Amino acid sequence: MSPIECILTRRSIRSLRPDPVPHEHVETMLACLEAAPSAGNLQPWYFLLVKSQGLKEELCRLSFDQQVVKQAPLVFVICAVPEQSAAEYGDVGRQLFCIQDTAAAVQNLLLGIHALGYGAVWIGVVKEREIAECLALDEGMKPVALVPVGLANETPKPMERRGWRKVTRTIE
Ligand SMILES: Cc1cc2nc3c(=O)[nH]c(=O)nc-3n(C[C@H](O)[C@H](O)[C@H](O)COP(=O)(O)O)c2cc1C
Repeated sequence: MSPIECILTRRSIRSLRPDPVPHEHVETMLACLEAAPSAGNLQPWYFLLVKSQGLKEELCRLSFDQQVVKQAPLVFVICAVPEQSAAEYGDVGRQLFCIQDTAAAVQNLLLGIHALGYGAVWIGVVKEREIAECLALDEGMKPVALVPVGLANETPKPMERRGWRKVTRTIE
């Protein structure tokens, strides 16, 4: 599929099959993650791959029981490392750039997953402290998103958007 087709056909998949994701595909997904742009190319992120059923169940519980988290054969946890950005950019790095960089990485991951023929959904981290504790994250790592991935068990309708014409103004 072309890059444009990949972007335009990606959908959030919230029902996944349990079949494992082969290691070479996981490695391609990780390469997509770190190919994202980041301010000053600082790459202020850290990734966890969760395969343990016990931990997936705990992450599911800490994500308002969204079943896809424990259904998935694999859950990516994408963390920001704010002090890495702060060292170069101060507060704007700590509060803004590291989150933007990490969000770009998550979107790259979602597109790579789709291009490889798998499904996934971005699960927002609300219970940040509890999730950090459950994963025994080092101090200074901020979990930003969970991405459960696997073979899709549903085919959502084509995407709905407000229409870019309504939210775009050209200045000439
Ligand atoms: C920051 C963020 C948090 C999200 N959290 C959730 C979530 O917790 N559960 C979920 O099912 N989808 C979540 N989503 C996915 C959105 O609901 C989804 O992208 C949106 O409805 C558009 O659908 P699409 O991805 O199929 O285009 C999240 C997306 C973003 C960007």
